[in-house]
Amino acid sequence: MREEDVELIDWARRAMRHAFAEYSGFPVGAAVRTARGKVYTGANVEISSFGLSLCAERVALFKAYSEGERDIEALAVAGLTDEPISPCGACRQVIWELAPSARILLVNRDASKTAEFAPRDLLPDGFSLNRRPPGIRERE
Ligand code: THU
Repeated sequence: MREEDVELIDWARRAMRHAFAEYSGFPVGAAVRTARGKVYTGANVEISSFGLSLCAERVALFKAYSEGERDIEALAVAGLTDEPISPCGACRQVIWELAPSARILLVNRDASKTAEFAPRDLLPDGFSLNRRPPGIRERE
């Protein structure tokens, strides 16, 4: 693996320490690297009304986008799972839209196992406003 990817995974693992996972007890860390080499980190933040919580991936991507970044080269996600963590469905949609050409690097609890995916592998045939799922007809 490239040195910069190893570093990005490290950023994600360190970001996990800032998780606010009071309800699930399941901390997650994420880090994105932009084309110009800047890193933005994220961790999951939970709210007592659970649906308001945000995953680590979305926090990292929204931090980057809200600072004006658009060109996301890689996203690393770290969790305390035995196997590399698997992003939730909501995050797959967000990754697909905000980081369509990023390499997605997933790691397990001690980073002994890594998996790499493209956004389209995580979300085949994802939703977008100008691309309806097959079978949905245009309104006449
Ligand atoms: N979570 C993430 O932050 N990222 C993932 O890829 C999987 C799930 C969070 C959401 C919630 O705060 C906790 O993990 C348990 O689901």
